[in-house]
Amino acid sequence: MKALVFGSLNIDKVYSLPHLPEKGETLYCKGYELHVGGKGLNQSVSLKKSGSDSYMAGLVGTDGKMLTNFLENAGVNTDNVGTTDGFTGHAVIEVDTDGQNQMILFPGANGEITPEYCDKVLENFDEGDLILMQYEISSVEYLIRLAKKKKMLIAFNPSPYVDEIKSLPLELIDYLILNEFEGQSLADENDCDRAVDKLRKLNENGAVVMTLGGDGVIYADKNEKVRVPAFKVNAVDTTGAGDTFTGYFLTEILSGEKPKVALRKASAASAIVVQKTGAAETIPEKKEVETFLNNI
Ligand code: RIB
Repeated sequence: MKALVFGSLNIDKVYSLPHLPEKGETLYCKGYELHVGGKGLNQSVSLKKSGSDSYMAGLVGTDGKMLTNFLENAGVNTDNVGTTDGFTGHAVIEVDTDGQNQMILFPGANGEITPEYCDKVLENFDEGDLILMQYEISSVEYLIRLAKKKKMLIAFNPSPYVDEIKSLPLELIDYLILNEFEGQSLADENDCDRAVDKLRKLNENGAVVMTLGGDGVIYADKNEKVRVPAFKVNAVDTTGAGDTFTGYFLTEILSGEKPKVALRKASAASAIVVQKTGAAETIPEKKEVETFLNNI
């Protein structure tokens, strides 16, 4: 089975700050780093590192070579990553001393994905292949419907959350993977357990996974509902933790692991990521995750 991520590729400009700025405040930063990122790119790397046959589709600008080079070195197939005349998407990421962040996103080429481009890419994939999407590119609704027509397995991470996500055909999603804020907003429900139950009903045969940061993660499908605690580690930068979780979780579940085991491995992978600065570069190899789990 091919695992296609159709999503964003960003250049991440990461600024380390003593605290996140207040409105009108000017702050000197303690450090600046340039990283590869984008929820799509990060998730394709996580799928690859966890053992999937990972394919990335999306668009970069003429300044995007560092992103495709990175993916190729990581072993992710980039045949379906195109180049436009404009700028590559980028993220301005501010990180405080507790590892919390806030972001400004410039979509750039990620916003130029058209239905025609989706048609062209999906010609290279078949029934039963996985497609994983986020909400940082254009034409997501078209893509979901097209993937369904092709009988692909559909995973969706509705991130970053905006209210228009509510009008997407969410009943077509097989795996809805989201964080607490996204889940509460999408379900219009503050209680996380109840939000998961509500979202699960969108697709009777689908599954919902809601990550709760330090409070662990909840999984529910029509047969079971499980909750797994988080690993306690010292967070330096949480950027990319959710993307790492998503890739690892899908690889494990699609290779037949039980939800509880898949959740534990995915949580371990993201616990490793938060201890370093950056996103895609910090995603661990499977072996590192196994070592982490053996040493708990
Ligand atoms: O999820 C983290 C990612 O969100 C960053 O790499 C940034 O590019 C944004 O897409």
